[in-house]
Amino acid sequence: IKKVTTHQLSAMKERGEKISMLTAYDYSMAKILDGAGIDVLLVGDSASNVMAGNETTLPITLDHMIYHASSVVKAVDRALVVVDIPFGSYQGSSSEALRSAIRIMKESGGHAVKVEGGEEIKESVERILSAGVPVMGHLGLTPQSIYKFGTYTVRAKEEEEANKLIADAKLLEKLGCFALVLEKIPSTLAERVAKELTIPVIGIGAGAGVDGQVLVVHDMLGITQDFKPRFLRRYADIGSMMTEAVHHYISDVKSKDFPNEKECY
Ligand code: KIV
Ligand code: NA
Repeated sequence: IKKVTTHQLSAMKERGEKISMLTAYDYSMAKILDGAGIDVLLVGDSASNVMAGNETTLPITLDHMIYHASSVVKAVDRALVVVDIPFGSYQGSSSEALRSAIRIMKESGGHAVKVEGGEEIKESVERILSAGVPVMGHLGLTPQSIYKFGTYTVRAKEEEEANKLIADAKLLEKLGCFALVLEKIPSTLAERVAKELTIPVIGIGAGAGVDGQVLVVHDMLGITQDFKPRFLRRYADIGSMMTEAVHHYISDVKSKDFPNEKECY
């Protein structure tokens, strides 16, 4: 594939090819991920935690998201770039939602947006879609409403919440969303949703029965060290490699080993 499009993602679901997705927030990292062949890059509002050190995703602003997204877009040749609309920029008012989505598309060059929630944000989703902006849904654990739930534990274990999730998933598909993220819900429920929907369902902590997987890149590379949920597989220990490299550098500076003759002008 030359460039990944929303249409190619549904074709991947149709032929049973799993979709790979990771977060990215900056140019250098995005260049590596895109070069490695990732299908989708999510400029997640997890940038609030990972990049800015906030405890939740709530403080990050639309301007911050556009800054991260434009950095990622410049690095990408192939991946589809999806950008989270941050908390407070789409809930409650569909015209504000549209304005936010348009700012993201115009000012960052991203290819699609992601929003959290179902029925509650129906009008916002409709309005954004009507402008021709592809929308990815996000249900299950939705970190922008953390203060409503109070914890980051598994969602939709009870039937009532599971039924609402299924109804919301079907609604988002009906409205025209091109894909859906399901975060931290039982695998049986996620698999059921993936089977009942024709749009691709991407999971994080949602088991193997979905159409693709997403992780926060700093978590899977081991750059963040203290976040260890069960669903996280660490593919590298870059944090330790960085610590070791910096120790080495400090000691070379102190011992005057660095710079050597060849490293001087
Ligand atoms: O912001 C984010 O990183 C996300 C993913 C975890 C899906 O929304
Ligand atoms: Na997010």
